[in-house]
Amino acid sequence: MATPFTYIIPILLLLSLTSVSNACPPNDRAALLAFKAALNESHLGIFNSWKGLDCCHNWKGVSCNPETHRVADINLRGESEDPIFEKAHRTGYMTGSISPAICKLTGLSSLTIADWKGISGRIPQCIASLPFLRVLDLVGNQISGEIPSDIGRLSRLTVLNVADNQISGNIPRSLTNLSSLMHLDIRGNKISGTIPRDFGKLRMLSRALLSKNKLNGLIPYSISYIYRLADLDLSLNQLSGPIPASLGKMSVLATLNLDGNLISGPIPPTLISSGISILNLSNNAFDGYIPDAFGPRSYFTVMDLSHNKLRGRIPRSISSATYIGHLDVSHNHLCGPIPAGSPFDHLEASSFVSNDCLCGKPLRAC
Ligand SMILES: *[C@@H]1O[C@H](CO)[C@@H](O)[C@H](O)[C@H]1NC(C)=O
Ligand SMILES: *[C@@H]1O[C@H](CO)[C@@H](O)[C@H](O)[C@H]1NC(C)=O
Ligand SMILES: *[C@@H]1O[C@H](CO)[C@@H](O)[C@H](O)[C@H]1NC(C)=O
Repeated sequence: MATPFTYIIPILLLLSLTSVSNACPPNDRAALLAFKAALNESHLGIFNSWKGLDCCHNWKGVSCNPETHRVADINLRGESEDPIFEKAHRTGYMTGSISPAICKLTGLSSLTIADWKGISGRIPQCIASLPFLRVLDLVGNQISGEIPSDIGRLSRLTVLNVADNQISGNIPRSLTNLSSLMHLDIRGNKISGTIPRDFGKLRMLSRALLSKNKLNGLIPYSISYIYRLADLDLSLNQLSGPIPASLGKMSVLATLNLDGNLISGPIPPTLISSGISILNLSNNAFDGYIPDAFGPRSYFTVMDLSHNKLRGRIPRSISSATYIGHLDVSHNHLCGPIPAGSPFDHLEASSFVSNDCLCGKPLRAC
């Protein structure tokens, strides 16, 4: 038999659930609406879901901290697996700018506004005052201006990704204060000036991707102190001077891309016998010899030394490398016989062309 409680208890439960989830603080809601007002996204209608009082529920891309009920994450991606894109048969496109109203969301832990292609304007300077921010991902827009000068205040920031925008100015001095930073990606911008000398203070960093900018000056020696660094991409800048030999002694460095700079001096032997497996030094001004330092530790999926000023022979020790998948020493001043051995059997002439007098398989006989 159904007692009155059979109905009353579920209704009470429902009421209490509604009051918990209906918990978006009015100030957070107002900040979100101001943020929305500065943006235009009409293809997918993502912001159509931003209505009603409860911003913590069913507002696309918004989620709240279940304990504090503050807005914790904004996650708006213009390219993703989300079914909304499949339905619309297109990727996202959004214009407008990021409103400084976002800085009123002081509970914000991640801010992802990625791959919308058309968002312009600046990164609000006040973003550096968000005390809990861990992820700032603005990749793939048209954002200009500079990285906020006091970005270093974001002591919890683990991901800073502003790649593929129009950002100019220098790397702010405070950036090296980001002691939690694990992933830095500023590729494909117009950032100039030098890499801070104290870059090595970023002890948690595992990926440092700085390619396709206008950085100049030296590669700071301190980078080699970042013992978690696995991926260092400084390619396609205007860096000069020699490579610090200590880069070859980094314990987990696996990818080192320095191609397309003005780097000169010899290739440090440490790079050849390190744990690096992708090494691109092409299109620089390296001179001297290819170090005679290959051995069983040398395992390269890519070793591109092309378009430099290397001279002398290809060292015989290269035959003792465990693996060299793709080798390119073309466009240098090398001479003498190409060593034989398993790392070479599969290579084609294009790996060796445009040198002074290299000979032997796969080029003409000596
Ligand atoms: C959004 O687009 C409409 C129509 O093109 C325009 O009138 C409006 O100013 C735009 N708003 C923003 C914030 O860019
Ligand atoms: C980095 O942090 C230290 C310690 O908090 C502070 O004294 C210094 O001014 C900061 N450097 C920059 C450039 O903001
Ligand atoms: C090395 O860098 C050059 C210049 O940036 C690029 O063209 C080349 O494809 C890269 N080599 C490999 C094997 O990826």
